Amino acid sequence: MRLKDKVALVTGGGSGIGHATAVLFAAQGAKVVVSDLNEANALETVAEIKAAEGDATALTGDVSINVDAEAMVKGTVETYGGLDAVVNCAGVIADKALPKGASPEAVWDRVMEVNLKGTYLVTWHAVRTMEESGGGSIINIASINGLVGYPIGLGGGFDAYVPSKGGVVQFTKNLAIDYGKKNIRVNCICPGHIDTNLIREFLDNPERREWLEQRYPMGRVGRPEEIAYAALFLASDESSFVTGAPLIVDGGYTAQ
Ligand SMILES: NC(=O)c1ccc[n+]([C@@H]2O[C@H](COP(=O)([O-])OP(=O)(O)OC[C@H]3O[C@@H](n4cnc5c(N)ncnc54)[C@H](O)[C@@H]3O)[C@@H](O)[C@H]2O)c1
Repeated sequence: MRLKDKVALVTGGGSGIGHATAVLFAAQGAKVVVSDLNEANALETVAEIKAAEGDATALTGDVSINVDAEAMVKGTVETYGGLDAVVNCAGVIADKALPKGASPEAVWDRVMEVNLKGTYLVTWHAVRTMEESGGGSIINIASINGLVGYPIGLGGGFDAYVPSKGGVVQFTKNLAIDYGKKNIRVNCICPGHIDTNLIREFLDNPERREWLEQRYPMGRVGRPEEIAYAALFLASDESSFVTGAPLIVDGGYTAQ
């Protein structure tokens, strides 16, 4: 049990990487608050954890809204008496951020709001709690696109996803420097393409999937569990001297 007696908040816990992380954390002994914009999906993750005799609670909210972000953190502390780890996993890509027909500017704003501002808001409230309790671990799910460009999304080079994830990487480093002496570790994970609903349409197209997989030295995209295990390391005391790090989990993509 690598997270015995720890309390974790996982945003975006209703699907994909967040779902896999919440399930793994609970299996490793953590009490987990599964937060998501999609209530039904958050409840499903919680039901799965409880079926495996884990401890979890669902909380619905939008990470880009300050009162929701505050409620996620306060709700976690009220439910489980503390907060040891936060996984900022909620995120969107430009194609899915808003209904079709939205202006490029509105899409830019929404992607930035969820991916970058959402990470900032949840972390803002979490850090205040962790300062009082003597420390904690913040894990931001960035992307390889926070490190290298990828101008093939909606709008090509004008796609907001890449800049939003670059912002998450830099936000991570800034916070790590500022909060190191307070025992709050702040790291991010930079996943390569992972088989989740986020890129389902892309992966369900055999030609596009093959095109993508050929770009990976390992010849495949990743699985949500492969990111969850990286988050587990960063949430556990095994990573006690790791802070400010972008942990790349990408099947070798950025090694090229
Ligand atoms: N799948 C990939 O290829 C990939 C690669 C690199 C990074 N990531 C990042 O990993 C994270 C998780 O992505 P995923 O692939 O699991 O996607 P996903 O779509 O399967 O899950 C994302 C979850 O976030 C929730 N969400 C979206 N906006 C929200 C908001 N405003 N407030 C609260 N919850 C919200 C969604 O409801 C969903 O349950 C994202 O930050 C994504 O950018 C994904």
